[in-house]
Amino acid sequence: MLARMDALEEVLMCKLDDGRKAVDPCTIVIFGASGDLTARKLIPALYHLFKEQSLPVPFRVVGFARREKTDEAFRAELGEALKQFSRTKPVDEKVWAAFSANIFYCMGDFGDAAAYEKLAKLLKSFGEPKLADNLLFYLATSPSQFAECVEHLHNVNLLRKDTNAHWQRVVVEKPFGHDLASAHELNAGLTKHAHEKQILRIDHYLGKETVQNILMFRFSNSIFEQIWNRASVEQVQITVSEKIGVGGRGGYYEEAGALRDMVQNHLLQILALVAMEPPATLEAEAIRDEKVKLLKSIRPLRPADVEKQVVRGQYFAGQVGTEFRPGYRQEPKVKPDSNVETFVAMKLFIDNWRWSSVPFYLRTGKNLPLGASEVRVQFRPTPSVLFAAQAGQKLDANAITLRLQPEEGITLRFNGKIPGTSLSVRPVRMSFSYESEFGAYTPEAYERLLLEAIAGDATLFIRRDEVETAWGIVDAIRAGWNGKPLSNREFYSAGTWGPVASDDLLAQAGHAWRNPLPMAPKTT
Ligand code: BG6
Repeated sequence: MLARMDALEEVLMCKLDDGRKAVDPCTIVIFGASGDLTARKLIPALYHLFKEQSLPVPFRVVGFARREKTDEAFRAELGEALKQFSRTKPVDEKVWAAFSANIFYCMGDFGDAAAYEKLAKLLKSFGEPKLADNLLFYLATSPSQFAECVEHLHNVNLLRKDTNAHWQRVVVEKPFGHDLASAHELNAGLTKHAHEKQILRIDHYLGKETVQNILMFRFSNSIFEQIWNRASVEQVQITVSEKIGVGGRGGYYEEAGALRDMVQNHLLQILALVAMEPPATLEAEAIRDEKVKLLKSIRPLRPADVEKQVVRGQYFAGQVGTEFRPGYRQEPKVKPDSNVETFVAMKLFIDNWRWSSVPFYLRTGKNLPLGASEVRVQFRPTPSVLFAAQAGQKLDANAITLRLQPEEGITLRFNGKIPGTSLSVRPVRMSFSYESEFGAYTPEAYERLLLEAIAGDATLFIRRDEVETAWGIVDAIRAGWNGKPLSNREFYSAGTWGPVASDDLLAQAGHAWRNPLPMAPKTT
């Protein structure tokens, strides 16, 4: 095991020292280019990659959408949006001018064969063969259009399974289905004309620096890895809490709910990274094999287990910080008697050698007091023989908290003696902050993901069997709910940490949630 850890550390270092990845000239074609995602995330991410000289030379971006527009109008629209959504401000006008000269627009309906012919012509007109053959198709469309787009791309020979010197890849966004059967159908549509390795399914949490750091932390530090198992760990808590409510996304949320929107993807991905076995190499397939193995080891939930192990909730009106928030049922496009969950908490067990009988508690919700994502690994307490004699003394168990956002960092909590003549102990914390150590470095998740997609590294994307296994877990929970309406105990006031039932879920085992703490205001 130790020899394996050393080998992994070496590979990790090689990847780190490698510097930039080689990227081939290519064209990125965005389907659904008039949508929010293009303006908010994709173009700002590409602009920053261009600014850092990480994009290939040459490259082109083609927006494909229904509305009629000239290239100039499309660029002007994106330029305006960039001023609002860029993570660095002000936008560097010179850089934007140089970058946006590579952006083009192709008007077309996703179902119109002629529009794809036009796209093929446009790509040829760029005059450089690689720009017409190395193609990244970003489907920022509704999933119901994935199969149609892929079929048409195949028909005009823009998407081929048999590419040797060139490459074509398809990037798809969530929701990747709404249950296992629909995910299966989407996968079948996509793989009809593309190999699995050409399909990159996005989970933007995997593009977050600190989510990637979970593997680094676990597999490059032998002191932690040796205690990362049932012998030392008592319980693990994964919290992804959001301070925002559903806001303008009521229509989408009514179809999704917290379980499909957050657990199926982000939370289960974090869980997989926290609990998986060391991969044989850092190759995409090796890492994804281990994640799938872990997801498959999650003990299946039968309907009777769902009742005991899963809690859902919906917010009613309340105060979040200084702001008053309406209840979920009063949000736009939400049914006044909706039973959709805006909060979910669950206790899962991983039936494998490492984690047997360790509870993993997961929770996520909207309109909670803080926006924060953390993983808390709580260790078993020491035998209480030594300090039990001290009156009122209750020893806190050691814990490691991986803070994923905001203010990424790691905190180790242990007990220390209070100075003085008495033998009093209290928990103290040792904290590490990425920003203090490495300076502020906050690339958007999409920057990393787009670059990996161009480079053809699938490590940070979700493989077909991963997505389908995760849907299996979520479907079992939904089957347990069986369309039952929410009970009174399942509502929570906006601005609180969810329904009381969520605390009861842990209390049954003598555990309690540790809520993320607000960060101290910055002094500089
Ligand atoms: C998205 C969900 O996938 O993730 C949203 O659809 C959620 O409902 C968002 O708000 C959270 O992402 P982040 O990066 O803000 O934590």
